[in-house]
Amino acid sequence: MSNYKLGLSMEGLEEAFMGTIDAALAHGQPLRYIEIGLGEGTTFLAVRNHVQTVSKRKHLFIGYERLKPEFDILIPRLLRNGITISPVYTSADNDTLFVSDWQRPNLSFLPECANVVFIDGCHCYNCVKNDLLICRDLPRGSFIMLHDAGIRELQCDAMQCSGPLAVHTVLHDMGILGNKNEDFEYLTTLVGARTLVTIQVR
Ligand SMILES: C[S@@+](CC[C@H](N)C(=O)[O-])C[C@H]1O[C@@H](n2cnc3c(N)ncnc32)[C@H](O)[C@@H]1O
Ligand SMILES: [Zn+2]
Repeated sequence: MSNYKLGLSMEGLEEAFMGTIDAALAHGQPLRYIEIGLGEGTTFLAVRNHVQTVSKRKHLFIGYERLKPEFDILIPRLLRNGITISPVYTSADNDTLFVSDWQRPNLSFLPECANVVFIDGCHCYNCVKNDLLICRDLPRGSFIMLHDAGIRELQCDAMQCSGPLAVHTVLHDMGILGNKNEDFEYLTTLVGARTLVTIQVR
């Protein structure tokens, strides 16, 4: 049994997920973790908990969520987890930032402040590709994890945009799965309740 309680459908991926966080910490730089698609914040809070337990350094945690006004069913759940999103929240010690941007989802800030990105927002083709293209500019060696990246998941609906879930298709089309992409090195595909692909910036 794992000690880490991650988000719904992250079952079986807990150790691998935290293993990548530990690998990033081992690089010696402060962790700058960004989660695209915060959901209820369960995975995000587990990462922050874990890092703050194993390291006394100051790290940075950013949760990015595209909340549409009509999607605010999420807000009570976030509040229950102690997360305020309205539309930018910074914790008292400045190490945690929640950003929600329902007007103009804009991640251009990302390359300057992240060295680990968990891509788990909208799973449609354009959004996943867009998230990945932004990640090309992260520092060399940065880790990127993508949830719902398997073939089985292709049957699921995308979260926000119309069109099917397409994480696996994007990874395939960009040559990442065959390790032919010049920006990203393919590392692993791990299957739990869903599939997690981990890549690294070249
Ligand atoms: C699968 S859930 C995230 C689960 C969360 N990562 C976890 O492990 O607990 C996807 C979330 O992405 C949000 N979302 C959808 N489109 C987005 C986008 N373009 N950018 C950021 N977040 C997005 C949805 O509102 C939803 O809360
Ligand atoms: Zn989308």
